[in-house]
Amino acid sequence: MSQLIEFSVNGVHRRILAPPGRTLLNVLRENLDLTGAKLGCGEGQCGSCTVLVDGRPVRSCITPAASVAGRRVTTIEGLEQNGRLDLLQESFLKAGALQCGFCTSGMIMAAAALLRQTPNPDEAQIAKQMQGNICRCGTYPRIVEAVRLASSLRKGVSNA
Ligand code: FES
Ligand code: FES
Repeated sequence: MSQLIEFSVNGVHRRILAPPGRTLLNVLRENLDLTGAKLGCGEGQCGSCTVLVDGRPVRSCITPAASVAGRRVTTIEGLEQNGRLDLLQESFLKAGALQCGFCTSGMIMAAAALLRQTPNPDEAQIAKQMQGNICRCGTYPRIVEAVRLASSLRKGVSNA
């Protein structure tokens, strides 16, 4: 029997009727039309479906939708503010940290979680945080560069 799930997505309260076992990724993409998180492996191994739940990165492809009831979900669509890209999104563009772009939303969400906890991460901390996110195009060095760029731009903004 379907279950009513209430949660917040990108600051908006949502009520979804979902059958048992429906994943958060399915709800985001199919019920809410938030298609930034991508279905890659579908087994929690590649990170392309990463979103934040209460600020922590989760693999939405293996997260039951029912488990986020009452919680706060942030997707890539929730990063921009008033039509302006988040500094991380801008930094990925500036650093050319994507080719096909399939992994990019998951990479950015993983990086967003890192910068919230560790505003000025070193290369090893970035690599550790992102190690579960796979880029089939091999843009890892530029991804690290993008995260460092976002960190330094954010410092500039907060010092301004
Ligand atoms: Fe979720 Fe690969 S699609 S981890
Ligand atoms: Fe293609 Fe990462 S940019 S998978």
